Amino acid sequence: MIDTNTTAHGKWSSRYAYILAATGSAVGLGNIWKFPYITGENGGGAFVLVYLACVLVIGIPIMMAETMLGRRSQRNPIEAMEILTKEANADSHWHYLGWMGVIAGLLILSYYSVVAGWASAYILKAFTGSFVDADASAIKTLYADFISSPIQLIFWHTLFMLATMYIVVKGVKNGLEKAVQYLMPALFVLMFLLVAYAMTTNSYFQGLHFLFTPDFSKLTSNSVLTAMGHAFFTLSLGMGAIMVYGSYLPKDVSISKTVFMIAGADTIVALLAGIAIFPIVFANNLHPSSGPGLIFETLPIAFGAMTGGWLMGILFFIMLSVAALTSSISLIEPAVAWLVENRGFTREKACIWSGGVTWLLGLGTVFSFNVWSDFKVFDRSIFQLLDYLTANLMLPIGGFCIAIFAGWIMSPKHSEAELDMPIAQGYQAWKLLVSYVAPAAVFFVFLHVIGVL
Ligand code: PHE
Repeated sequence: MIDTNTTAHGKWSSRYAYILAATGSAVGLGNIWKFPYITGENGGGAFVLVYLACVLVIGIPIMMAETMLGRRSQRNPIEAMEILTKEANADSHWHYLGWMGVIAGLLILSYYSVVAGWASAYILKAFTGSFVDADASAIKTLYADFISSPIQLIFWHTLFMLATMYIVVKGVKNGLEKAVQYLMPALFVLMFLLVAYAMTTNSYFQGLHFLFTPDFSKLTSNSVLTAMGHAFFTLSLGMGAIMVYGSYLPKDVSISKTVFMIAGADTIVALLAGIAIFPIVFANNLHPSSGPGLIFETLPIAFGAMTGGWLMGILFFIMLSVAALTSSISLIEPAVAWLVENRGFTREKACIWSGGVTWLLGLGTVFSFNVWSDFKVFDRSIFQLLDYLTANLMLPIGGFCIAIFAGWIMSPKHSEAELDMPIAQGYQAWKLLVSYVAPAAVFFVFLHVIGVL
């Protein structure tokens, strides 16, 4: 994967390696944990439709733009923006964009790691048979008991952060490339099996109806913002993760084709997760809007009830943890790349610093589920606040700036050469989306939320 041994700034060994790594970054807790629970909280179908529209007209063009900025500069996001600004003779303030990305990545990782820790803890719960024949209320209690224990959450959060740091120190070379190679197909198979189980419940169509029949009366301006923010989050956009991965990308790879593949795979995993989960929610009289615990309160019921469920439960939570790991390394990579390339840190030292700071921040999220659950700022717990700040504000703002930079500042000659679209109209369509449609959409959603529109 990233060859950190030969030069400070390595290269992917092949196009395939890049697709695997970028898909690994995109597919993670966002698809399997976050998408179902925010869909449940925001009323279903209409929310899903807005999310899909955002992926198509905002996410995909910005993903191409972000990959392109990385590849053209061959640098970490902060330096990338400095180099590209010079090349375009633009104002030097653009490098703040790189900074915001590095900070957003660490903030996201701080709570991402806590939830990934839950997934890892559930491997053990599955293994020891905690789900066998358990009904919905037993599973709910299991989850409630678990998150009320700060010690347990800290233990798993620590373990997950150490795993992330270990992989990043080792330069993510061979192991992870292989892991993603097997993980993705295996994840698809497991998701299909869960969908098959959902079909056996008598609420399968109720689940589908909830997900795919839009009821626009349920859509508030904040739901639209959440759907848009999630399009950025799930595709890993707006904070430099895709820019860093793009910077390791060989010149002869088509950015447009690979972006479609990555975004397609990401969307399918999210939809499969939704199709598997909501029938279980309705069949057990659970609430779609039960929040971040949704998958932990539903899927174990399926594992407890189905034949072969014991093994499937173990495999599922292993896969969810690995999928989270392939995303977490991309959340920390912009910070690490910057410390190594610009501050002369060794990779070890860079990982220890960024990982340590993130770990400490993560304690805020840990406590927001138990001892500090009453502590609210703007009516939100620390976890909710971090999630809102990053996914709903920082990533869309970052994405907006990336779109403006790629569409207006960078010379079209450079962007056309980098993107290398199979057809000429492709480039024009991208230019239109990235210069006008995507930034305008982000802008209008923001105006709407603050009540100006
Ligand atoms: N896309 C990842 C997921 O859906 C999360 C992520 C966000 C990763 C931003 C990198 C950057 O789980």
